[in-house]
Amino acid sequence: MLKGRHLIEPGDFQLNEIESIMQLADNIIADPEGYSLVCRGKLLASLFYEPSTRTRFSFEAAMLRLGGEIIGFDDPNNSSVSKGESLGDTIRTIECYSDIAVIRHPREGTARLVSKFANEMPIINAGDGGHEHPTQTLTDLLTIRKFKGGCDNHVVGVCGDLLFGRTIHSLVKTLSRYQGIRFVFISPTELKMPAHILNQLDPKTYQETTSLDEVIGELDILYMSRVQRERFVSEEEYLRLKNYYILDKKKMKAARPDMIVMHPLPRVNEIATEVDEDPRAVYFAQAKYGMYVRMALIAKLLGVEDRK
Ligand code: NCD
Repeated sequence: MLKGRHLIEPGDFQLNEIESIMQLADNIIADPEGYSLVCRGKLLASLFYEPSTRTRFSFEAAMLRLGGEIIGFDDPNNSSVSKGESLGDTIRTIECYSDIAVIRHPREGTARLVSKFANEMPIINAGDGGHEHPTQTLTDLLTIRKFKGGCDNHVVGVCGDLLFGRTIHSLVKTLSRYQGIRFVFISPTELKMPAHILNQLDPKTYQETTSLDEVIGELDILYMSRVQRERFVSEEEYLRLKNYYILDKKKMKAARPDMIVMHPLPRVNEIATEVDEDPRAVYFAQAKYGMYVRMALIAKLLGVEDRK
């Protein structure tokens, strides 16, 4: 039962619960009209303390498409945060007005912390610093399911900023719970996957490399990511690493005909725009699945899917 639960990291949900969200997303995709009023009379609070395009818009679109309403801010300077109000007090107040809340914050652990103040309202973490981004993981899993038939038995290349990429941390931990997954971690040595994630994996299930060219031909899925400028202490270090990998048409020639290229977006330079026309590039479809999976998540956490 997912009703009333918080989603702070993907590990909060059992694999069968995650699968049930994807199943509901499939049903919504098949019959969006049928679900267009299930959230009538419900309010979602959208609290973004950090920039966002896809996550915020897809959550807000998701709630509106379910017949619910939204309140919130995308610039905390427009709320009482600018008067020095604590997060705990903000959440206690928002809980008086809304049924569910989504929060993105630059500080790791914030979503977990605020969930302790919410007694009746489910809290969804929309990204906390370089830590976790569970709804991007749901988006990624639904995309894999749609394009590859399911989430088991894939060789998954994860390329770019493995140190600071929160979408990567959440995805890798979750995919490792599926059967037959092998990871190829591709990054500059400075941006390697952190030990606290590697320690949770069976060493036989992953390899690390700095060379995308050497491994691209082995992959079923290539998950590209942006170097996370805002998490760097030194701008010089960022500038040195930002263009380390650029996926272009030439590199794609060496990839398998059925490999898919994913990216949580925003992209900076790591995928040349010439790749967009390649049928294996699925990142914009991925962004669209993000809205459907968030519709499913909201409906589950509010327990309204049967109001159809
Ligand atoms: C990601 C994020 O915010 O972590 N974007 C997203 O939510 N789709 C990835 C990123 O910013 O690089």
